[in-house]
Amino acid sequence: MADQKTPSFRPETLAVTHGWNSEDALRSAKPPAFMTATFTYPSAQTAKDVHRAYFDGDGPEAGGALHIYSRLGHPGLDILEARLAAIDGAEAALAYCSGMAAHTAVALAYLRPGEGVVFGRPFYSGVDGLFNEIMPQFGTFAEAYTDGCDEANIWAACERAMARGPVAMLAAESPGNPTAALVDLDLLVAIAGRIEAAQGRRPIVMVDNTLLGPFHQRPIEHGVDLCVTSLTKYCAGHSDLLAGAISGRKDLIDALKLQRLTWGNHLDPYTAWLVTRSLETAPIRIERAMENAKAVAEWLRDHPKVAGVTYLGFAPEGSAKRAVLERQCSAAGSTFSFHLHGGEAEAFRMLDRLKLLKMAVNLGGTNTLICHSASTTHYALTPEARAASGITDGTIRMSVGLEHKDDIIADLAQALEGA
Ligand SMILES: Cc1ncc(COP(=O)(O)O)c(C=O)c1O
Repeated sequence: MADQKTPSFRPETLAVTHGWNSEDALRSAKPPAFMTATFTYPSAQTAKDVHRAYFDGDGPEAGGALHIYSRLGHPGLDILEARLAAIDGAEAALAYCSGMAAHTAVALAYLRPGEGVVFGRPFYSGVDGLFNEIMPQFGTFAEAYTDGCDEANIWAACERAMARGPVAMLAAESPGNPTAALVDLDLLVAIAGRIEAAQGRRPIVMVDNTLLGPFHQRPIEHGVDLCVTSLTKYCAGHSDLLAGAISGRKDLIDALKLQRLTWGNHLDPYTAWLVTRSLETAPIRIERAMENAKAVAEWLRDHPKVAGVTYLGFAPEGSAKRAVLERQCSAAGSTFSFHLHGGEAEAFRMLDRLKLLKMAVNLGGTNTLICHSASTTHYALTPEARAASGITDGTIRMSVGLEHKDDIIADLAQALEGA
């Protein structure tokens, strides 16, 4: 179904065109939602051939245009996955029922008992918990670095890990949630080479690209093996669904696809259709949110009750972070944190006074969402892990949305007045 030709268009164009031929469904201009659990076989022999191709053939794609059962793959997934792979510049992509389902799939596929992951803090707390609480129940271990722009800091974590066992995965979230800390992806890939030289096996490099998304940072172009994106955030962008994606090397993706049919954590036909539809407008939504975020961050920076703002655009000239930002990202994003003078009491007073802005934990949607990191998104972390992630009791995360920027600032102004 999908046009498999090598795409030569820019990501914005691919987001509205790639992976769909109107001849495939009664010349409908837009891809329909294929709301079916299963697919009919034209003959018993074809049924056998399709199964053989899927399970024993040249990878799971060998089934071609024929589908078996929606848990194994469906047309909505074909369209969305072709589009995601093209936008990310990856060989292949898979869509899952949430960002965490995608992260869990990678961890279960590529971390074995006795092996470890080296990851950067801050990382979304669900993934931090996956590496440090859940996967160790299957015998894996984790070591964290805290400055993703500093080779010595990352390498020290790798050495601690290699002293415990083989490092199977090197992981980063960049920019990191909630402080927008950056990880130098070229450096990370180079360090994977150093680990290979030291232990005789190259770890998989996995990067979570949720905060900037595929239109403003392209991890695959830096040599990253697997790029994980919570589509729930900017790509779907309306805070009304959950979805996740993995894009990357075809051999790694093929193995994940075969496991996905057993875990049953694929993206369902209706949500796949919604994400495909939303992806078309993601570039312009993200552009406007970023304009608003810049104005809001600049206003917050000058407010006497604000101790600091982690907006990426404020990375100091001449700093390692600035150099990475300019080399790796094409924009500063619209999710950042600000730290209030004081702590939880001041933060709660301010949040409870908000009238327009919604207090909720999602990010990347049309509404501006705001939350107190330590007691919500990063509640489950230990105080030490929170401190290592740059989160204080006065840290408030904001994902700036599409309201008029003056209305967002006015609401913050009246809320800070009483904090
Ligand atoms: C950076 C990042 N990665 C992954 C996830 C998990 O995605 P989902 O909520 O779609 O499972 C989140 C959720 O907040 C996130 O912020």
